[in-house]
Amino acid sequence: MLVRELLKLPVGSQFSGYYVVEYVEIKKHRTGEPFLKLVLSDKTGTFNALWWKPPKDADLTQFQKGDVVFVSGTVEEFQGNFQPKLKEVRKAKEGEYDPSKFICETRYPLQEQFEELLLKIDSIENPYLKELLEKFFYDDEFVELFLRAPGGKTIHHSCIGGLLEHTLAVVEICETVAKRFKSIDRDLLISAAILHDVGKVHEYSVGISIERTNEGLLLGHLYMSCEMVSFKIAEIESFPKDLKTKLLHCILSHHGKYEHGSPKMPKTLEAVALAYADALDSRVKGFEEFIERQLGGQKGWTKRHFAFEVPIFFDGEIDYGKEETNL
Ligand SMILES: [Fe+2]
Ligand SMILES: [Fe+2]
Repeated sequence: MLVRELLKLPVGSQFSGYYVVEYVEIKKHRTGEPFLKLVLSDKTGTFNALWWKPPKDADLTQFQKGDVVFVSGTVEEFQGNFQPKLKEVRKAKEGEYDPSKFICETRYPLQEQFEELLLKIDSIENPYLKELLEKFFYDDEFVELFLRAPGGKTIHHSCIGGLLEHTLAVVEICETVAKRFKSIDRDLLISAAILHDVGKVHEYSVGISIERTNEGLLLGHLYMSCEMVSFKIAEIESFPKDLKTKLLHCILSHHGKYEHGSPKMPKTLEAVALAYADALDSRVKGFEEFIERQLGGQKGWTKRHFAFEVPIFFDGEIDYGKEETNL
């Protein structure tokens, strides 16, 4: 049973299903007997669960973060929070479960979004920027990676195709800003929006869960994006040096603050527009994903978000897009 459905079950209901272990801890009852505290998830949500009375001979150390487990149990609540007690927990064997249960895909059609992005590239008039964008997006190997890449691991767009969805959203916001502020170099801003996160194709790996690669952990996508863009620029004859500097500045500063990982604060019109467009899309999408994962279709308050530092209120209807048909 998917988490979204599970969260709607009344107390006392029996359930079973396959979930990924997000967190595991061996704890002890007052009597000294061990029990297991788990955080389990699939692509539709996350929940806490307790394996309250494991059999005496159960090896509780065998469960690791990232394992897929089969569990069965009873829905219970603790201090108003959903917290089932499990009667069975075992590691699942490959082939026993459908891996697509664990990582969601962008809810908007992948191909349509990609075609929209290509239209944006077509609309760029500056020949150097256009050639640069074509070097990325007419390269089949890169496009394959780009279409599969997530936009993030936990905070926003943590799904296959999330990078494309996020990129297109940032481009659309930037287009609106460029229409409003005529002093902005629209071609530069749109090109920077399209390229700002390209390093994410190597920052994350996608399996049963989304993980950061060693390269991602050690270098980060701001540097990686700049490096990829610099390499492609080097292939373009007489690409203007100041245009390269301004484009790389937009990419390097797009997290807006030093404490958010940008080595430079935005110092041009295009850079400040990109940084706010990026923050706007990632924050709103981050709220939406948290509401979905925490409330599972219910209305009311989420828990306090670990990064946004507030609980979130929602009493509307979530648009699950095409994903709903896969459930
Ligand atoms: Fe970024
Ligand atoms: Fe971004």
